[in-house]
Amino acid sequence: MIMQSAKDSRSETTEGIGRAQLLDGAVIAAQIKREVALEVARLRADREIQPCLAAVRVGDDAASAVYVRNKIRACEEVGIRSEHHALPASTSATELLKLIASLNGRDDVDGILVQLPLPGGIAEDQVIDAIDPLKDIDGFHPVTVGRLSMGMPTFVPCTPAGIIELLDRYQISIAGTNACVVGRSQIVGRPMAQLLLQRDATVTICHSKTRDLASVTRQADLLVVAMGRPGFIGREHIRPGATVVDVGMNRITDEATARLLFGTEADKRLEVISKRGYTLVGDVNPAEAFEVAGYLTPVPGGVGLLTVAMLMRNTVKAAKLRRGERKVMSDEL
Ligand code: GUN
Repeated sequence: MIMQSAKDSRSETTEGIGRAQLLDGAVIAAQIKREVALEVARLRADREIQPCLAAVRVGDDAASAVYVRNKIRACEEVGIRSEHHALPASTSATELLKLIASLNGRDDVDGILVQLPLPGGIAEDQVIDAIDPLKDIDGFHPVTVGRLSMGMPTFVPCTPAGIIELLDRYQISIAGTNACVVGRSQIVGRPMAQLLLQRDATVTICHSKTRDLASVTRQADLLVVAMGRPGFIGREHIRPGATVVDVGMNRITDEATARLLFGTEADKRLEVISKRGYTLVGDVNPAEAFEVAGYLTPVPGGVGLLTVAMLMRNTVKAAKLRRGERKVMSDEL
């Protein structure tokens, strides 16, 4: 299903710059999961194949536990079989590599996900390198990254892939735009820049050493922010009318910060803090961005849900590829 064009549905004020239209990650994630569920049902009916995802988590990082739980729940929703390997923080690199080798060797496991970050002492690069590229549903393996950078079909990291889906389904054009990615992580910033380049955007990557960040981000028609600093991107960073995609996911626990960041929404968010102990904010100041941007992804309810949906899609792709349902990797489901 194609969303109503963002341009048609956006409300504008008489000044020409309206309050931003929110890009609803929940709606798009639900669409993607429905498509995946249909494909899983078809595979089960026609080929007796049930895709299987193995999730590995080491230690007791609270946020990681929530993320993995959400991924397992999404598997249940779409009909993917899953297993959760929760290992203690004391697990050695050797033990973890042994588990990965056994998952690589199992014919019934299609996708392997090792939740990051890993506890200190375990080299993440070595662990990622150990995953069979054919089961690399996160898209982090060096072979996968190399294929992506060459523009070859491959597993695309889930967050950037989800952002492209979101823009496409809202019919927000990418080709020819000035796109700016703030953050150069392996998980989001770098693959995001690659995907935008492949879609013919003019891409700038900013990072912690960028001089006069605002002067660079203000050139962007499309601004993707993944820097891990709560509410950092404000009015002065955003070109009026720009599309702003906020990948940040930060916990706010105090009233003063909530009042500063949430404007007229502050009371609602304070209620959330008193109930749950925290509320989530992205890397973008939501109150200010809402006034300046043309389109904006909310936090929560934006990009985070898409990451999980795209992981489901990658798992089905992996199952089809390994089990001979398709001969070559392609961008389709
Ligand atoms: N940590 C933060 N994001 C991700 C992700 O997309 N995949 C994994 N494996 N770990 C993460």
